Amino acid sequence: MSTYSTPVLTTARLVLRPLTHQDAPALFAVFSDPAVVRYWSAEPWTDISFADTAIARAMEAYRDETDIRFAIELAETGEMIGTVNLHHFFNQNNRCELGYALASAYWGKGYASEAIGAALDHGFRAAKLNRIEADIDPRNAASGKVLEKLGFRKEGYMPQRWLVHGEYADTVFYGLLRSYWEERAAQEGTAQGGAA
Ligand SMILES: CC(C)(COP(=O)(O)OP(=O)(O)OC[C@H]1O[C@@H](n2cnc3c(N)ncnc32)[C@H](O)[C@@H]1OP(=O)(O)O)[C@@H](O)C(=O)NCCC(=O)NCCS
Repeated sequence: MSTYSTPVLTTARLVLRPLTHQDAPALFAVFSDPAVVRYWSAEPWTDISFADTAIARAMEAYRDETDIRFAIELAETGEMIGTVNLHHFFNQNNRCELGYALASAYWGKGYASEAIGAALDHGFRAAKLNRIEADIDPRNAASGKVLEKLGFRKEGYMPQRWLVHGEYADTVFYGLLRSYWEERAAQEGTAQGGAA
């Protein structure tokens, strides 16, 4: 048993909350879009059962407190537009990995930065993490921009680490330390991401 529970967080425009079974259609809409999984070593989902399985796994993680996995909801409409998760926890080292995806209709509006900022703030403050890692395809410019905007630093390059839709793809490895996060928060005089 770990202590990585998934609470409800609010930001200026978003609510981050645990996934529920009702999220299956919206989750399927996100991950069945080829544009969303363009740089992932997985094919787009072809059936809603993929969403049901993912939600069932999330439920197990909530029960066991092993993953922090948020649905991202628009505060104004209640629409579920994506997910952000902290996973692969190495408890001994207070370290984990970060993942995120938004429905393509909502890209370019600052939602990812807002949602990921809140999740990171929760990870460092409430879950007492010391380091959060992200592994992205160097061609995924939007993803790199979001990470750098949030204070992640490039730490390494690994060629041909993944097989992505039939071709080997490289990894740019990013890391964010609690100390970088606290330094930025102190400079800005506020918590990152506007998490309440
Ligand atoms: C990566 C992703 C989450 C970004 O979401 P988003 O909500 O569009 O990101 P934001 O609007 O917060 O943008 C963050 C920054 O990236 C920039 N950006 C967005 N798209 C960009 C692009 N295609 N090229 C370069 N920069 C881009 C934005 O201008 C913004 O910078 P700014 O604040 O200085 O203007 C979204 O594209 C996505 O879900 N992609 C598919 C899933 C994915 O690749 N996940 C990551 C796998 S590791």
